[in-house]
Amino acid sequence: MLAVIALGLMLAPYVISPPYSYSLLVLIQALLATMVSCRLGLPCWWRWIQFFIPIGLYVGLLVEFNPLWALAVFALIWLVFPNALTERVPLYLTNSTTRDALKRLIKPQKNQTFLDLGCGLGGNVVFMSQQANISEAHGVETAPIPYLLSKIYTLVRGGRTYAMDMWKTDLNYYDVVYAFLSPEPMPKLWQKVKEEMRPGTLFISNSFAITEVAPTEIWELSDRRQTTLYIYRL
Ligand SMILES: C[S@@+](CC[C@H](N)C(=O)[O-])C[C@H]1O[C@@H](n2cnc3c(N)ncnc32)[C@H](O)[C@@H]1O
Repeated sequence: MLAVIALGLMLAPYVISPPYSYSLLVLIQALLATMVSCRLGLPCWWRWIQFFIPIGLYVGLLVEFNPLWALAVFALIWLVFPNALTERVPLYLTNSTTRDALKRLIKPQKNQTFLDLGCGLGGNVVFMSQQANISEAHGVETAPIPYLLSKIYTLVRGGRTYAMDMWKTDLNYYDVVYAFLSPEPMPKLWQKVKEEMRPGTLFISNSFAITEVAPTEIWELSDRRQTTLYIYRL
């Protein structure tokens, strides 16, 4: 992209005489990056990031922005989203329509145990801890800030969350295991589910199916994001 701009700058004097304002050059850079990002294979929503990064850098230079602020923002983002890099699972939350569906999926027997793998802010854990047939609702989370918030939330409203990697959990203990992750960990997670979960128990994946296995049921919900629940009875 810089080479295209450099070429443009070499040719521009034949059409418009210099000097050229930096802000105009930065705007051209941002627009060009925006136009090509989708075509070069990046997910199309990245075009906004491509647009704002050069402008942000330029504004940062203009206002003599202390780089420690950038470091602080980066640290904050890292503390919320470390699993986006390591596991390719960012943080987004289950909505109330999906939670109602989870409630309908619980069997009528008493004393069932529930686990949310990557529990985010702990909303599902609290919700399930308040259901009559759930005796224990647990969640595990490794992102520091979501874990801390989930810990406080569950201390106040019910359930328990642990600062634990989901790969280290013992799924054998649970009757219902819920995951809302991404396509990336699903094949490995299915191996774990198969090895550890007891016959008759439920594994529920929000949005991401296990490609090599047909689910026992698929629920298509009528929320705004048209959530699909893939339900696997072991
Ligand atoms: C899409 S969010 C879902 C949050 C919550 N379960 C919900 O449905 O509202 C996925 C969460 O999984 C967490 N996560 C990803 N990999 C993990 C791992 N190996 N161990 C524990 N948590 C993990 C992420 O940090 C993120 O908070």
